[in-house]
Amino acid sequence: MPAVLYEKRDRIAYITLNRPEALNAFNHEMHQELREIWQDFRRDDGVWVAVVTGAGERAFSAGADVKQMGERGSGQASRSFWETWFGDNLQTGLEVWKPTIAAIDGYCLGEGLTLILACDFRIASERASFGFPEVNLGIATIVGAVRAPKVVGMGNALELLLVGERVDAQRAYDMGLVMRVVPAGEALSEAEKLAERLCRNGPLAMRCTKEVAYRSQQMPFGDAVRMGESLRRLVNASEDAREGPQAFREKRAPQFTGR
Ligand code: COA
Repeated sequence: MPAVLYEKRDRIAYITLNRPEALNAFNHEMHQELREIWQDFRRDDGVWVAVVTGAGERAFSAGADVKQMGERGSGQASRSFWETWFGDNLQTGLEVWKPTIAAIDGYCLGEGLTLILACDFRIASERASFGFPEVNLGIATIVGAVRAPKVVGMGNALELLLVGERVDAQRAYDMGLVMRVVPAGEALSEAEKLAERLCRNGPLAMRCTKEVAYRSQQMPFGDAVRMGESLRRLVNASEDAREGPQAFREKRAPQFTGR
C-alpha cells in the first residue's frame, strides 16, 4: 500500500497521506513518494490544482514519524550540514506555482502543519486541531517557524511554535490559519468545490499571479513589479489571454486550455 495516494480527476490532482494507522505520520516512504508526486504535479500540464488531505477520519497528519526518529538516515540531521539546502518537497520549500488546497479533518501537527502552511488555501473541519508539538519532544521546527509568522502573524505563530499545545479549528480560523471551517467529514468536498472554482480560471494567469505574490515578498518593490510585468508578458502571449476577453465579448464561459 503506498504511503501517499495520488489520483488525477479532470484538472485536479488529489494527494492523500495514507498511513491512517499511524495518523498519517511522515516516514521515509511518505517523504520519497511525496517528492515524486510534487515533481509530477509540477510537470503535468493536464492538472491545474492540487488538493492535499489525509486518509481516515482522525488525522491530516500527526507530523514526523516519532518512531523513526533517531534511526540512521532519518531527517535533516543525517545530511551533511555543508550541503546546499534545497526544498525537494512542498513542505520543505519546493516551488509550486499551481494553486494548492489543504483539506484538514483531524490532527494537523508538526510537519503536517508545515505542509498546510505551504498550501495556498486551508479548509478545516470542526474536528481539526493544529499544533507544533516539536518543543514537547525537545526538537526544533525550522521551516514551520519560517512560514507560520507570515501566515498567522508573529504572536499567533509563537503561541503555536513555543507553547506546543493544540488549538481547535475555531481558534485556527480566528488566527487566519484556515479560510473556512465546515462540519466534520466535509473538508474534502469543500476543498473540491474550491478546486473546481479555481479550474474555471486561466491556469497560466493563476500561476503567474501566485509566483509574483510569493516571490515578491523577498524583493524590493521596483524589482518585484519589473519581474511581474515580465511574467505578465508571457501570459499575455498565451491563447488563454485571448480566449478570456473573447468569451466575455461573446457572453459565454471561457474555455481555457493552459496554452
Ligand atoms: N509518529 C508515529 N506514530 C504516530 C504518530 C507520530 N507522529 N502520531 C501517532 N502515531 C501512532 C501512535 O503511536 C498510535 O499507534 P499504535 O496504535 O501502534 O500505538 C496511532 O498512531 C494512534 O495514535 P494514538 O496516540 O493512539 O492516538 P491518540 O488519539 O491517543 O493521540 C495524538 C493522538 C496525535 C495526540 C498523539 O498520537 C500524539 O501526540 N502523536 C505525536 C505527535 C507528535 O509529536 N508529532 C511529531 C511532531 S515532530
